[in-house]
Amino acid sequence: MFDFKKDYKILNIDIAETRTGKAMAKLNLKSADSDNVLNAVIWQESLNNIDKSILKPGNTVRVFDGSYNTQYNNLSINDIRLVKEAKNGLDQQERTNFFNKILEEVESFQEENLKATILQFLFENADKIKTAPAATKLHHNYLGGLLQHISECIDIAKANISVIPTTINQDLVIAGCIMHDIGKIFEYSLNEETFAISKNKDFQKVWINHIQWGFCWANKNGLSELAHIIASHHGIREWNALVEPMTNEAVLVHQVDMISSRLGLIQVDQLESNNQLSRG
Ligand SMILES: [Fe+2]
Ligand SMILES: [Fe+2]
Repeated sequence: MFDFKKDYKILNIDIAETRTGKAMAKLNLKSADSDNVLNAVIWQESLNNIDKSILKPGNTVRVFDGSYNTQYNNLSINDIRLVKEAKNGLDQQERTNFFNKILEEVESFQEENLKATILQFLFENADKIKTAPAATKLHHNYLGGLLQHISECIDIAKANISVIPTTINQDLVIAGCIMHDIGKIFEYSLNEETFAISKNKDFQKVWINHIQWGFCWANKNGLSELAHIIASHHGIREWNALVEPMTNEAVLVHQVDMISSRLGLIQVDQLESNNQLSRG
């Protein structure tokens, strides 16, 4: 059922062409109090009069004019307006805070080569690091998602190191938290207008994935222990690990990566309800 008095969330949207070459938009809408997904369409004549920037997944909208076909649960929209804009990721201040937190961690490292190499990389790639998502679909797939994921990994690792009786090189673990997925800044592209995330074709022509990129980067810079952490952070070969974790630090980074990617603030919707947690 459709109700003109209710707000609806845009689940997804596809701008397509009709057979006669006219533009049209196909949308899936859902109200907060029902699991029913409504199919809606906006034909070119109406689309021309609508602010297309509001037609984004996650946005809450209200349909002001249209016709609803009960039999097919299909809505033709003539006028649609924005009620609430979706959060597309971390805002600029949150991203700056996370980036500075990571810099502080690296600046406290004891080992000079580890510290200098990572700091140089962070400064040279700051813009990409501050916007990259951590995945296309499964977790932290939003603007600044990689920073959020790194920050969660650092916090979870420190909490664990404080109670683990085995000797652990904390700097190496933190370096692993920061660099294990860093190849994703080249592997994925985030469109900053539509917030759509795709795999970067140019990257795919040269590299297998972010793991192989990070492994090569670390070895090239004489950081072989970090290279092993990156190579093994997915844990098992079936999950694309180049090798299984063989050091205490690699075991820990694999585990904190699993925790953050499954139990962290993995969906953009969670950011608003966990606002204070997302500030790092
Ligand atoms: Fe990864
Ligand atoms: Fe990760």
